[in-house]
Amino acid sequence: MILWLSKIETLGMTLTGLGSICNNEIRVGSTRYEFERKVQNLILTTPYELGFRNKHLSFSSAFKSPTMAEDGALPVDKLSISDTVEEADFSQRVLIRSILGRPDGGAGLAGQTLKVGGWVKKGREQGKGSFAFLELNDGSCPANLQLIIYSDVAPLGQFTPTGTCLHVEGVLQMPPEDKQGKQSIELKVSKVLDVGTVDPAKYPLPKTRLTLEFLRDYVHLRPRTNTIAAIARIRNALAYATHTFFQKHGFLYVHTPIVTTSDCEGAGEMFQVTTLINDAEKIEKELIKNPPPSQEDVDLARGVVKEKGEIVAKLKSDKAGKPELTAAVAELTKAKENLSKLEERFKLKPGIPKKDGKIDYGQDFFARQAFLTVSGQLQVETFACALSSVYTFGPTFRAEHSHTSRHLAEFWMVEPEIAFADIEDDMKCAEAYVRFLCQWLLDNCLDDMEFMVEKFDKNAIKRLQMVAKSNFVRLSYTEAIAVLEETVSKGHKFENKVEWGIDLASEHEKYLTEVKFESPVIVYNYPKGIKAFYMKVNPDKKTVAAMDVLVPKVGELIGGSQREENYEVIKERILEMGLPLEPYEWYLDLRRYGTVKHSGFGLGFERMILFATGIDNIRDVIPFPRYPGRADL
Ligand code: 4AD
Ligand code: MG
Repeated sequence: MILWLSKIETLGMTLTGLGSICNNEIRVGSTRYEFERKVQNLILTTPYELGFRNKHLSFSSAFKSPTMAEDGALPVDKLSISDTVEEADFSQRVLIRSILGRPDGGAGLAGQTLKVGGWVKKGREQGKGSFAFLELNDGSCPANLQLIIYSDVAPLGQFTPTGTCLHVEGVLQMPPEDKQGKQSIELKVSKVLDVGTVDPAKYPLPKTRLTLEFLRDYVHLRPRTNTIAAIARIRNALAYATHTFFQKHGFLYVHTPIVTTSDCEGAGEMFQVTTLINDAEKIEKELIKNPPPSQEDVDLARGVVKEKGEIVAKLKSDKAGKPELTAAVAELTKAKENLSKLEERFKLKPGIPKKDGKIDYGQDFFARQAFLTVSGQLQVETFACALSSVYTFGPTFRAEHSHTSRHLAEFWMVEPEIAFADIEDDMKCAEAYVRFLCQWLLDNCLDDMEFMVEKFDKNAIKRLQMVAKSNFVRLSYTEAIAVLEETVSKGHKFENKVEWGIDLASEHEKYLTEVKFESPVIVYNYPKGIKAFYMKVNPDKKTVAAMDVLVPKVGELIGGSQREENYEVIKERILEMGLPLEPYEWYLDLRRYGTVKHSGFGLGFERMILFATGIDNIRDVIPFPRYPGRADL
């Protein structure tokens, strides 16, 4: 539950904001306050009604006591605001977030000596070089801590370039009165513990605003920019929220394989995993360095074996002495070894091994063709058909040559799979999950979301609020086509033709979610001809129980379906699609033995980040983007 905390009188200060109450502490941002003193007057109302934005305080149900009214007074009787701050775990510095993220902006910590570490965002010398102001960021929050350092502590020039790393000790102090609006606290540096200097003439990321496209050429340095750092924190929060949601609902996290021998989507967009090419290259190099024996060399060696064999035979029949015979046998063994080495090397051929005119995958690493997975669905189904509610969350790979702003060759997918669940349950789960993610960002990442609003998309927070609250529109594919046809008849132009049977193009999806309904939309029951073999065939025999969740800004965010659990029907579907049965025999076993009605979906994790942040290109919301022509680092 999220509540607005408007006043705590006993603290001698008014504490306002949003945070969480859990067990025995209140958290505001990352700062924790233990319940110690009496709170006489704690007024609580819901935050969004107050038009609130900024600090947050959410009251988790763990703390909810029976006497607590939904928006009445909370029987909190002990609360104190801490006047010290702890060092970060396993690190010799205080997180900047634990200073600036407090409701008092750190003011209550004035006078404390502590260490901080981070990278200089902006530095300027002042007072004719007698001191410098440095804005330090350590990635723990979007805000920078202002450092003031005097020239008697250390020469200032080395500290001011953007990108310089600093580990310092100092005293927190209130800035001069006329500067207090901007900075609630600053650190006066007394000791420089470490510096990582930067040559400003060479540093590729100067403080001028750089485009995200430019930054893609510096994937190793771009985490130091405000934007990539904010996206990283949002991405982290969404991953945490994902596990929280599914764990809370009793799902089991299953690690599905990255190397697979099954094509889940049957779309033939898989990256192959093979060692045949490296092996062929190695052999080629080896053969150049060390040419293979000729047929003559082999025949000659064979002749030597024959000759040595005859000698041994003769010595045996002559009943020769033991030492003589042993020596001859040793020579024969040596000749045989030499022959087998030559024969082996004689067989070495440059190039990829073939059998009956085709590549011989029997000689490949896995003794068969293998690929990077396009989806963990088929494998996670094996666990759903035993442990009921499961999910997988991992990287997936597609060798599509799409250069769009919504496609990556390597992306992360969240795939729940639920037994005893039909398409209705599946849609409910997808909607609850997406709404949970949106609310989570509002509760836990508001400072970063505010940064997104300021720099990239003024509607980003409104969109999250809207989705967190609203019911998703649901319409069948047939209804969606009717809506689009009606729009066309009124003069709207789409590049792609609209007729029953088409796969909805991105422009159609965006029209439905952004223009027509202005809300997330779930389209279900698609024509079976355009969907994967594993989807449940509906009684009309023309459509399958598939569903896609479409959201503004992105289009398709989720693709899912009820799975075909009938053995005969799914076998028929595999054949109908022209796929071989043999690789799917294990999958068919799930239907042969103890089959169960089950459903699931896949959420494109980067698409969710695009949707949340309002960033335009998917290449900027994954730490290391892979797309046609690019795989840096
Ligand atoms: O719709 P898709 O292809 O569904 C599946 O792979 C199912 N096996 C999932 C399941 O039922 N368990 O992909 C799911 C989602 C899409 O809705 C989209 O958000 C995202 O994955 N996606 C991509 N994201 C980035 N780059 C790509 N190339 C993507 N292809 C799909
Ligand atoms: Mg899809």
